[in-house]
Amino acid sequence: MSITKTVDGRTGFVTLDNPPVNAIGQPMRQALLDAVTWAEQQDLDRVIVTGAGRAFAAGADAREFDGDPLEPHLPDVLDRIEKSFVPWIAAINGVALGGGAEIALACRMRIASPKAQIGLPEVTLGVVPGAGGTQRAMRLTGLETALEMVALGKPLRADEALKAGLIHAIEDDPVGAADMVNTEELSCVVPTWELPAPEHDEGAFAAIRETLAKRSPGQVAPLRAVDAVEKGLSLPFDEAMRLERATFLELKQGDQARALRHMFFAERAAKAPDDLPPAPTLTEVAVVGGGTMGAGIAYACLSARLAVTLLETDEDGVARAQANVGKLIDAGVSRGRLTEEAAQALRDRLTCTTDYSSAANAPLAIEAAFEDMAVKKEIFAKLDAALSPGAILATNTSYLDVDEIAASTKDPSRVLGLHFFAPAHIMRLLEIVKGAKTSPEALATGYALGKLLRKVPVLAGVCDGFIGNRIYSRYREAADTVFMDGSTPWEIDEAMEAFGYAMGPYEVADLSGLDIGYAARRRQDATRDPNRRYIPIADRMVELGKLGKKVGAGWYRYPGGGGKVEDPIVADLALEEAHFAGIERTEYSEDEIVERLVLAMINEAADVLAEGIAQSAADIDLVTVFGYGFPRWRGGLMHYADTLGVAHVVERITALQSEDPVAWKLSPVLANCAERNVTLADWTPA
Ligand code: 3HC
Repeated sequence: MSITKTVDGRTGFVTLDNPPVNAIGQPMRQALLDAVTWAEQQDLDRVIVTGAGRAFAAGADAREFDGDPLEPHLPDVLDRIEKSFVPWIAAINGVALGGGAEIALACRMRIASPKAQIGLPEVTLGVVPGAGGTQRAMRLTGLETALEMVALGKPLRADEALKAGLIHAIEDDPVGAADMVNTEELSCVVPTWELPAPEHDEGAFAAIRETLAKRSPGQVAPLRAVDAVEKGLSLPFDEAMRLERATFLELKQGDQARALRHMFFAERAAKAPDDLPPAPTLTEVAVVGGGTMGAGIAYACLSARLAVTLLETDEDGVARAQANVGKLIDAGVSRGRLTEEAAQALRDRLTCTTDYSSAANAPLAIEAAFEDMAVKKEIFAKLDAALSPGAILATNTSYLDVDEIAASTKDPSRVLGLHFFAPAHIMRLLEIVKGAKTSPEALATGYALGKLLRKVPVLAGVCDGFIGNRIYSRYREAADTVFMDGSTPWEIDEAMEAFGYAMGPYEVADLSGLDIGYAARRRQDATRDPNRRYIPIADRMVELGKLGKKVGAGWYRYPGGGGKVEDPIVADLALEEAHFAGIERTEYSEDEIVERLVLAMINEAADVLAEGIAQSAADIDLVTVFGYGFPRWRGGLMHYADTLGVAHVVERITALQSEDPVAWKLSPVLANCAERNVTLADWTPA
């Protein structure tokens, strides 16, 4: 079904009905167009349009965007609605986004429920509004709000929309209120398209463009949306509409829109596999370790209304854990995310203790202690003894062997990895690591926790670093190689920022602490391929005590705790090491830096796929975007590789083999995709 129509007296009721969120596809557009004629033929005095279920309408059906546009087009349908002699009233019962908002804007009046939201988030899908959003919004709200709506994509709450002039009223029963509108009053409302466009305001355009340069560098759609508004100021409405539509159609086919669509649907597809058993209802969890990670996990669980027992080794640890979680709760209050009352409820649900028996009833424990196998095994032995035999035991390890931890417990089927990313209460990625013996029940519990915490869950197999850290290690190695052979950390960071990362690898390392990578390298010493080139600069940094921002010096210096500045000693280290290794340093362009770092990741990611550590290329995209800041608008690492074209990727990696055949050994998956002419997204094991 796409819409339903009923009549009561001279009022027609049209309900947008395409569950779950009334996305507007071709059948709905056709049905709406037919409804205009239907209303005119029945001589109705109004049509009230609302949405079935929780949404008014979530916008154009983005699943249609890969194909050619299908008639009737939404702007034409809305033109008919707006110019019909039977006035339409939008009774906005829930979210009205994109094309959904545009339907409402083309109606003569808009009455919203208090829980409604109205927005033009098209830029988040890499397009601009394509059915009048840029032209009608500015006529109702003025320039400033309209520019923010179309360029930033953030929806307005009903009260904000009322204040901005976007809607006429807020009513608990918007359909009933629309029915009560006085007929004469309704006939006096000027259709939106007939309203004058606002005056040009250079300041408003300069301000929004400046905001976009900071917030969404590299992204095309937000700037094009601003252009569409600006051009619309001096064009007749119809012409401005044609220009907006042409921009929408052009961008829809572009790389950025494809990438953002891919991410939109991949994110929504990330959920528990259908073949898992039902998960238990979680009301409490145990978290072991109240350091930064454990406290973040505990805070995330508390915020999801779980009771948390936070276990520590001694009273000092308990006090530290309590303080760490307390700081996060206080920050929630000071940032306005938590009321004082909600904060107190979180504090009340938290128990910090050394006594494992306090967690005896927890159906799930998450260990987030020091990255040391002996420490982990000791904790798992205690959990084994204290929790019920059915409880699920998870480790938040970033690198350690989940199977070895599991083997040290009475029942390895209860053990899995739940790998959070710092800060654990903010970062959306959750790697759910399946060990050799992990049971479906344990996995179902991991997914249930992920859902409660609103994480993006991605299933990973056991290997050093799982999906994300394994790929990230290769990225770091490639960065250090480029550094030793010619560039500076500053140049490398700048290149990766220009590519779309919020921060380059060296600034990230300074924030996490260089000791973390050092420990990982020491763990890998025994198994590292002796033929693989080893870049010793990071080790020398640690030996010099340059551990990162926490000590005021790492790859950069942070004088007075402030912003980063280049450190000549760091540059000298590269010169020295290159000299010892007999390397003639070279200058890399920004493009060369990006290519090397990104190709290194793609090659490793293809191996991760080949080994079944990741289930799909889309899962790797989710990991790289939600855990490591790969630009969403490039669609994640593997989608980006497919955009470059696998044949091109293979050709470039093969070319780099002449420099270092070990580091640039081509992944068999890439070779196989190139041979079969399939994308990484479509690759399946033979
Ligand atoms: N097109 C196609 N499918 C859509 C969709 C859309 N615009 N919006 C949501 N869906 C689908 C989701 O993929 C999901 O499908 P699934 O159940 O098969 O996984 C289902 O609807 C429910 O979506 P969510 O899981 O996201 O549900 P929530 O309740 O969490 O969120 C929402 C609802 C706020 C409406 C959110 O889905 C959303 O933000 N949607 C996209 C809104 C948007 O960007 N609209 C602009 C579209 S472009 C446009 O309109 C162009 C126009 O100007 C011509």
